[in-house]
Amino acid sequence: MTAAVATEVRPERLSADQRPYRIGVIRGDGTGPEVIAEALKVLDAVRDDIAIELIEFDLGADRYLRTGQTLPDEDLETMRGLDGILLGAVGDPRVPPGVLERDLLLRIRFALDQFVNLRPVIRFPGVQTLVPSHAEDDVNMVVVRENSEGLYSGVGGFHRKGTRHEVAVQSSVNTRHGVERIVRYAFEYAKRPERRRHLTLVHKTNVLTFAGDLYQRVVNELTAEYPDVTTDYVHVDSACIYFLDQPSRFDVIVTDNMFGDIITDLGAMIQGGMGIAAGGNINPNGVSMFEPIGGTAPSETGKGTINPLAAVGATGMLLAQLGEERAAARIDAGIRFACTKLASMRAGEMGYSTSEVGDLVVEAASQ
Ligand code: IPM
Ligand code: MN
Repeated sequence: MTAAVATEVRPERLSADQRPYRIGVIRGDGTGPEVIAEALKVLDAVRDDIAIELIEFDLGADRYLRTGQTLPDEDLETMRGLDGILLGAVGDPRVPPGVLERDLLLRIRFALDQFVNLRPVIRFPGVQTLVPSHAEDDVNMVVVRENSEGLYSGVGGFHRKGTRHEVAVQSSVNTRHGVERIVRYAFEYAKRPERRRHLTLVHKTNVLTFAGDLYQRVVNELTAEYPDVTTDYVHVDSACIYFLDQPSRFDVIVTDNMFGDIITDLGAMIQGGMGIAAGGNINPNGVSMFEPIGGTAPSETGKGTINPLAAVGATGMLLAQLGEERAAARIDAGIRFACTKLASMRAGEMGYSTSEVGDLVVEAASQ
């Protein structure tokens, strides 16, 4: 069941179509609720007069264990009418692997056709990473991960399951339509004023000669439409080396679903850890969902030690997607301020509690 709607008292500015923005909130499992609490605190501090209704969804492990439901159709239908969704994290050791990941998270991504997984890899001021040789400006890229097909499509199956001659097939699905729309999105993104107009395809064309070939051909074809964007190609394994050795060579990266999943975890580590890496599942013409890219962090749950900046950053991305650039910029400034305060920050170690970090962002964003 979807739950109550927040009530607001201040004078409010409505969205372009004259109603409050309707934002879905899926707090989810593990540390999800803790980071979402901070994200909502920040949202409230920066929204000024923007009218926002929060629509809470009771989804995740508890719901599943209680009712056997992962994502009821009614909830999905409600989501279709929203302006955006904020997700904490899903996954729980009490639930078999794949249940919540496939039937909840991936189902939302696929059903709402959120075909872009946008993952900025930005090293904020003062943040230390595991690569001491990186200077302040070295890490500033955006990974445009294909989010609707590839190895994630669920195509495959078992043959002779459970026998010694068992076969397991998991196919990578790459459609011309799917590849073209993600590559086009990446080219457009590279043209944004804040980008350096450089697009790198990351794949494995030397081995994945069908899927990789389609990606490379589409990039080659579209270069004619984007003469002011330079292009490059890097194998995914080499990309891992460059992330550590020479991250400044990347501006915008376009890659498939699985490669994008993997390299953005590495990307998170060169930006300061999973605690600050935010991402968006975007349908440019539909409902987008924003989330910290890390998981549920079971070992941190309930301790008030999890870093909420990734969830805060996801909230900033949501506002930017809604066109509320001013509020998004305030969140960005708040994160930068918090990062300078947490100058000793390393992955898994903050020196501040979860809510104190939220307060730092609010303090800077409120000015
Ligand atoms: C991510 C996660 C998900 C993914 C899992 C939980 C299905 O790792 O958002 O990167 O692989 O996309
Ligand atoms: Mn991942």
